[in-house]
Amino acid sequence: MTLTNEELNAHWMPFTGNRQFKQHPRLFVAADGAYYTDSEGRQVFDGLSGLWTCGLGHSRDEINAAVSKQVADLDYSPGFQYGHPLSFKLANKVVELTPAGLDRVFFTDSGSETVDTALKIAQGYWRTKGQPGKSKFIGRIKGYHGVNFGGVGVGGIGFNRKLFDQSVDADHISHTLLDENRFSRGMPEKGAHLADELEELVLLHDASNIAAVIVEPLSGTSGVLPPPKGYLNRLREICDKHDILLIFDEVITGFGRMGSMTGADEFGVIPDIMTLAKQITNGAIPLGAVVLGAEIYETFMDKGGPDYMVEFPHGYTYSAHPVACAASLAALEVLVQENLVERVKQMSPVFEKALHSLSTAPFVTDIRNYGFAGGLSLEHYPGEPLRRPFEIGLKCFEKGFYIRWGADTLQLAPPFIASEADIDGLINAVGESLHELS
Ligand SMILES: Cc1ncc(COP(=O)(O)O)c(C=O)c1O
Repeated sequence: MTLTNEELNAHWMPFTGNRQFKQHPRLFVAADGAYYTDSEGRQVFDGLSGLWTCGLGHSRDEINAAVSKQVADLDYSPGFQYGHPLSFKLANKVVELTPAGLDRVFFTDSGSETVDTALKIAQGYWRTKGQPGKSKFIGRIKGYHGVNFGGVGVGGIGFNRKLFDQSVDADHISHTLLDENRFSRGMPEKGAHLADELEELVLLHDASNIAAVIVEPLSGTSGVLPPPKGYLNRLREICDKHDILLIFDEVITGFGRMGSMTGADEFGVIPDIMTLAKQITNGAIPLGAVVLGAEIYETFMDKGGPDYMVEFPHGYTYSAHPVACAASLAALEVLVQENLVERVKQMSPVFEKALHSLSTAPFVTDIRNYGFAGGLSLEHYPGEPLRRPFEIGLKCFEKGFYIRWGADTLQLAPPFIASEADIDGLINAVGESLHELS
């Protein structure tokens, strides 16, 4: 199935070079397990699990059945002032699967909405507690927190910010991509000291003005940056010392990709607020969730006025959409029943070894990995840091492998169900593509 130039015109595609794409469309028409079928009828290995979404593999019968049933039973239900049982069931499931102490859940429809909701909860919390000055956010350079105004404001990828004003009051600590950690496997040894920059920003802005710090435990979009050993613990200590909320953006790391249910579990540091999306439904239906401690929730309840009043003036038409909740309950059931988080943990060394075999391939300047997430940095063309990853991505696609390119990096995130042969195939395709370009 091909589309004509005219048919391609109307859709302004997200995070896509639209002009290049419309000359050379890459269209998927079906997916099953770890493979897509493209419009030419080719099988394409899903080397990024969709967009870090589809760890269970595509077209899972359990999710399909739950979604079909739910559309037939209750296709939509208003989320304001009325509810449906599945959202409560799902909230309990999310609480069960996330670290102790995070026990209230606010549903959204995407990672970006989840981040903005978390930021609003943090600001609203301090205002509700009578500390309205605590409104500034601290993010991190190279951080990605989606594309809504709050997320872009705390985000730290220059390319994503350059067309827009600074939307929320935010400052940033340094990223953790250090030369001395190049080709580290898992958590890098050096870099915990970088968390101390937070102390400097607290000195600069004063804790009485800071609502929250937001970081991804492992930064995915900027090319897979695992946290240096001790780094997240240090951030936690500094936040505790100064009474600043710590938000972990676990939109990528939540529900298995690190080899634990969450990044917080894997890295042993518990935030005050956690954002989840993507893997929560295995990508089948959009859904996001903010998970937080009861004390934050109770603060809003206690100061909410008469009980007919809305305590938190926030929510989306599709918050806790019944079909999304059904998809999520089914997806989380599969994740647990099939021990897929454990499988990621067991297979991670296989992925790590295969990935690092690319360390001597042409143009590779760094490789990083954790769980089923891997990133490669590539030597720049003079003045064109983005071009080589794009070229390699296209070469991989020609060979039947979908991977992601972003900035000067390639990103790999195989489905949790990927076999050793799948992983070898993926790494070989990247290696061959690099050699062909040299
Ligand atoms: C850490 C993180 N936060 C937020 C987002 C935004 O999610 P969405 O694209 O669903 O809005 C992403 C997406 O990749 C992400 O990686």
